Amino acid sequence: MSASLRREVDMEMRSLLSSRRGPPSRLKRAVRYALEGPGKRVRPVLCLMAAEACGTSRRRAMPAALALEMIHTYSLVHDDLPAMDDDDLRRGRPTVHKAFDEATAILAGDALLTLAFEVLASAALPAERRAALVLELARGAGWAGMVGGQALDLEAEGRRVGLSGLLGIHRRKTGALLLAAVRMGGIAAGADRRRMDALTVYGRAVGLAFQIQDDILDVTGSEKAMGKRLRKDAASGKATYPGLLGLERSRRRARALVDEAVKALGPLGAKAGPLADLARYIVDRER
Ligand code: IPE
Ligand code: IPE
Ligand code: MG
Ligand code: MG
Ligand code: MG
Repeated sequence: MSASLRREVDMEMRSLLSSRRGPPSRLKRAVRYALEGPGKRVRPVLCLMAAEACGTSRRRAMPAALALEMIHTYSLVHDDLPAMDDDDLRRGRPTVHKAFDEATAILAGDALLTLAFEVLASAALPAERRAALVLELARGAGWAGMVGGQALDLEAEGRRVGLSGLLGIHRRKTGALLLAAVRMGGIAAGADRRRMDALTVYGRAVGLAFQIQDDILDVTGSEKAMGKRLRKDAASGKATYPGLLGLERSRRRARALVDEAVKALGPLGAKAGPLADLARYIVDRER
């Protein structure tokens, strides 16, 4: 993972937050606390890399990158709530509802969700691209995407889910936002149809591989490295790849998806090298 891109995202996020006036200080502290946790920043980095692969500067894609990290962070804050996965550790620190309280965690998530669209809608880009970015993010994050996937994930708890059901959950709850991240880089760059198609195939494959690896790490990972509680999926009756296919077949499936993703990058040429490396990182990662 590119440490320099991650640092750039963190710097831009800090400067954006300090430039926004207004919100009550407890809510603002909770929002900052959530965003400043040491996440991997995979979605913003994917967006910036996709933009560069399509020949534009990172600067033009930065509002999209920040909006993606805001949506993702909100999804984690809500995912950890007692009514959902009920977790007390995230990014190596107490979850927002533990460090603050439940109401503040709900509101911090709401604030992040709304701020993401404010940032996108006010990006210094042609109006058409801004509208396309808003649409892409809304689809990835909304009820046909991440939110819908989270609902299916909870409904599936304790039930028997087949492979196609599991695929549907993972594509929505995690894949949809990762796909949006990649495509938003292309949209910010004004990429042509051929490049957008390549990014779409790549984004679908890495999006799914990412959640398979998350499920694998819940079984095999270290809590210290991951910064969150592990070994919880089986105990909560979650539908997961290792639960359904076992670890070895899950690993093979994730690796096959990464090969598919890398192959799809052909039309983007040498500029897509960092995207290929990021796809490999997604299944090799230990955090
Ligand atoms: C965790 O996402 C939740 C999933 C969608 C699997 P990340 O693994 O990207 O979490 P951070 O942002 O690095 O904390
Ligand atoms: C969460 O999936 C996906 C989101 C949309 C947040 P998980 O519930 O598996 O994520 P972790 O393992 O808590 O990070
Ligand atoms: Mg969950
Ligand atoms: Mg969870
Ligand atoms: Mg998980």
